[in-house]
Amino acid sequence: MSASAPLPVVRAVTDLRATVGDWKRQGLSVALVPTMGALHEGHLTLVREAGRRADRVLASNFVNPTQFAPTEDLARYPRRQEEDARLLAGAGCHLMFAPTPEAMYPEGFATSIAMTGPALGLEGDFRPQMFGGVALIVTKLFNQVQPDVAVFGEKDYQQLMVIRRFVRDLDLPIDIVGAPTQRDEAGLALSSRNDYLSEAELAVARRLNQILAEAAAGAAAGRPLPGVEREAYAAILKAGFERIDYVAVRHAEDLSPFRDGVVDAPARILVAAWLGKTRLIDNMAV
Ligand code: PAF
Repeated sequence: MSASAPLPVVRAVTDLRATVGDWKRQGLSVALVPTMGALHEGHLTLVREAGRRADRVLASNFVNPTQFAPTEDLARYPRRQEEDARLLAGAGCHLMFAPTPEAMYPEGFATSIAMTGPALGLEGDFRPQMFGGVALIVTKLFNQVQPDVAVFGEKDYQQLMVIRRFVRDLDLPIDIVGAPTQRDEAGLALSSRNDYLSEAELAVARRLNQILAEAAAGAAAGRPLPGVEREAYAAILKAGFERIDYVAVRHAEDLSPFRDGVVDAPARILVAAWLGKTRLIDNMAV
């Protein structure tokens, strides 16, 4: 395999705009893949998908402080930008935008975004700062890059629904593409946070997708959801997870609960559970 050329990396918004402006003057379409770095095969799949949809692919690499609560893992979140740039180049990315926190949130920054709809419940209950922070940074990135297309993973399914909603609400002329979750050979959803797991924790984590698949099959067969969710909850604890924030079957688009307690429309099962200090999320179509 031949080595890829080093990936150009820009850190200033002015440099980013100069490159994207050149591309646009040449009539090239642009796809954005927003990331927080610590890239794995899941991200690279997003980059390849972006490459199928646009002439130029730009990945952002920024650990966004506004989507972390003070008690969360902002400081220990893995950062390895050189390795990220190498992986992105190999996946066909054309430019990495890796701004500093000061460039994204300069002194005196005073704007926030509040969302309801798909941002309520699930992650919204346990990480109340999360979707405001995501909406803020993704809106900034969209304004800075002005891409034609942006690609996000279904691994963060609620985030994808939130982004689709604010893009629709704010009339942003960007095509939002969701790409399927990438899993390891045992079915564990790939995540930068898997880096935190010991071998023993990995073995437990690898049981989650099977439990979700069984619950999804029960829900799809018309079993009452309170029972499906209760059994999934018990199975996740039995597998060795220490704590569960939620395991719930919801409408696939707005993530509202099924009022009659049975699935009668497109649905998704979503989970967040803890192994030691690590919080894992996963989801699946029902
Ligand atoms: O999914 C992520 O990695 C982040 O939430 C995103 C979309 C890059 C915003 O910081």
